[in-house]
Amino acid sequence: MEDRYEIAATKLKNARCGVALTGAGISVESGIPDFRSPSGLWSKYDPEEYGYIESFRKNPAKVWRMILEVQELLNNAHPNPAHISLAELERAGHIKAVITQNIDSLHQRAGSVEVIEYHGHARTLRCDFCGQNYLPDMISLDELPPRCVCTGPIRPNFVFFGEPIPTIAHRRSMEYAARCDVMLVIGTSATVAPASYLPYIAKERGAYIVEINPSPSAISETLTDLYIGEPAGRALPLVVEALRRLKGGSL
Ligand code: APR
Repeated sequence: MEDRYEIAATKLKNARCGVALTGAGISVESGIPDFRSPSGLWSKYDPEEYGYIESFRKNPAKVWRMILEVQELLNNAHPNPAHISLAELERAGHIKAVITQNIDSLHQRAGSVEVIEYHGHARTLRCDFCGQNYLPDMISLDELPPRCVCTGPIRPNFVFFGEPIPTIAHRRSMEYAARCDVMLVIGTSATVAPASYLPYIAKERGAYIVEINPSPSAISETLTDLYIGEPAGRALPLVVEALRRLKGGSL
């Protein structure tokens, strides 16, 4: 009997176009909490008060205090074996892209090249009024919120609830979802639309869905073809190892 890692590896070996969709869970082992687990960010910060663009516009100073806490976590985080395994899979041609809901840049830091940041990123900021872009070291945090020369509040370049997905990221993700024949769904509760539609689009077009998540998600029992109930930092290196074995030693 083949084990789950071997099945996943065989699917990736035969894939014409493998794609990974990642969520906050892939970065938990890098020290960044996810959102909806018991110790997740939304258990500490009410998303109604902190997560919506309206929350930011109503009280930017308050939302900035959460942003600073998250930024501190991001500054101290490093890619873990799951991020590194995905970069290896891309280099070896077994996946073509990573679509991530994360804003932490850990995929790029691990060496992934084709990374689609579905919810934006935390590397740069912009004025919420005029759109002027800023690098973090260009702004003063002595008073919150930091303000643009036009007086508008500056905000990170990630997506709040209630905002549209960046157009290019959305279009490319839809294309990859429609084109892939294997989708790895890793560390996401698959509850936040429209990112949560991507596995459905992939499946509808015939893709095989491999899911890696220690706790079952919204799709585990309905959409997933192969469920691996382990932390990503343990499971993905085992998938890579199984793939190496199948290919006779090298990836
Ligand atoms: N390995 C893999 N998965 C894990 C791990 C781990 N080590 N630890 C936790 N998980 C799983 C959890 O079981 C959960 O199913 O990761 C998932 C994280 O789910 P959420 O907290 O809902 O995060 P995500 O799916 O990325 O949220 C989507 O919601 O608040 C917004 O914009 C935010 O991008 C985010 C979006």
